[in-house]
Amino acid sequence: MNILITGATGYIGSHTLIALCEAGFTPILLDNFCNSKRVILPRLEAQTKQSLKFYEGDILDVQLLKRIFTEQKIDAVIHFAALKAVGESTQKPLEYYQNNVAGCLNLLTIMKTHHVKRFIFSSSATVYGDPASVPIQEHFPRASTSPYGRGKLIIEEILEDLIKAESDWSITLLRYFNPIGAHESGQFGEDPQGIPNNLTPYITQVAIGNLEKVQVFGNDYPTPDGTGIRDYIHVMDLAEGHIAALKICASKAGLHIYNLGTGRGYSVLEVITAFSNAVNQADSTKSGSTKAIPYEIKPRRAGDIAECWADPTRAQKDLNWSAQRNLNQMAQDAWRWQTQNPKGYE
Ligand code: NAD
Ligand code: WQD
Repeated sequence: MNILITGATGYIGSHTLIALCEAGFTPILLDNFCNSKRVILPRLEAQTKQSLKFYEGDILDVQLLKRIFTEQKIDAVIHFAALKAVGESTQKPLEYYQNNVAGCLNLLTIMKTHHVKRFIFSSSATVYGDPASVPIQEHFPRASTSPYGRGKLIIEEILEDLIKAESDWSITLLRYFNPIGAHESGQFGEDPQGIPNNLTPYITQVAIGNLEKVQVFGNDYPTPDGTGIRDYIHVMDLAEGHIAALKICASKAGLHIYNLGTGRGYSVLEVITAFSNAVNQADSTKSGSTKAIPYEIKPRRAGDIAECWADPTRAQKDLNWSAQRNLNQMAQDAWRWQTQNPKGYE
């Protein structure tokens, strides 16, 4: 199967591309490099041992999309391309809706014209808003707390309308929890621009000495240690979830919705401890000394919720998929990526 991957050079797209090639799929890549770097391409070719078909451009460029669908035989689309900074989306709502919602509509319209009706969409746990209880199941009510999250929710609703009107589509919504970690080679990982918004890239930047200390956003949540709890999932487990979804769902028409998480939550302090351990383990061969990653308690971050973790039972049952890698492995792999690439892909 030939799979068009939008946002293919981004964090999750690049890891999924590697897993897709290993599983024998043929990828066709599209990205405009608004949040990724061109230098990843030779690395991806070296890792996958193949010459990759890559289109540089924007999902807002309808002529380019027409060209891709005319030039290539595409069997399914995995749609990662999106802007993803929750805070920024509150400052630039129109840019977010334009890029994420209008871009997705362009893609779906071209797909329909070319009779390509298998679609996997990168959704997010953010569509559950502040859940009434955890673990979160797929039927829980949806809510949105930011233009970014509302965009995901709007696209989910558009896809629900589409399947009602045209039942021959196979549409899969994968709701990711908190993807972290890196490819075990140390060659691929998360490469945020500027100061990271998310917890674990911030932690590795502190550990490597680029930032002074981790700011822990609130220790007065109703959780055992007072800090926020999330379901962190290794990016390669997430990547493998896409392969399972492609294999199982793509042949079944209808709307398929899955949480991709581990089913376990960790607090911010537990994550900092796991990363301290990974750093010390990696360094022990060099210095023998141990050190903790420094942090300070700060006020809560606006829009954050106390806890969020998945019930991944449906994906286990239907897709025969479950996350295999634990928090220690996520921390070790993230640290290997950070130390081998102190400036990211540059
Ligand atoms: P990323 O920013 O690393 O990757 C997105 C890629 O899409 C980038 O390479 C960017 O250059 C590209 N892109 C953005 N807009 C584009 C456009 N208009 N045309 C072409 N390319 C464009 O983000 P990621 O972490 O890999 O996220 C991938 C998807 O997963 C996104 O849809 C995101 O909303 C979703 N998601 C991410 C997380 C997370 O924590 N990383 C969690 C839940 C859902
Ligand atoms: C995790 C925990 C913070 C940074 C975001 C998006 C979500 C999804 C995944 C796309 C929270 C705390 C963080 C820091 C901290 N993305 N924290 N200090 O907010 O759970 O999810 O990414 O769909 O939509 O909102 O992830 O990594 O930012 O935060 O204490 O410097 O770490 O308060 O408890 P979040 P995160």
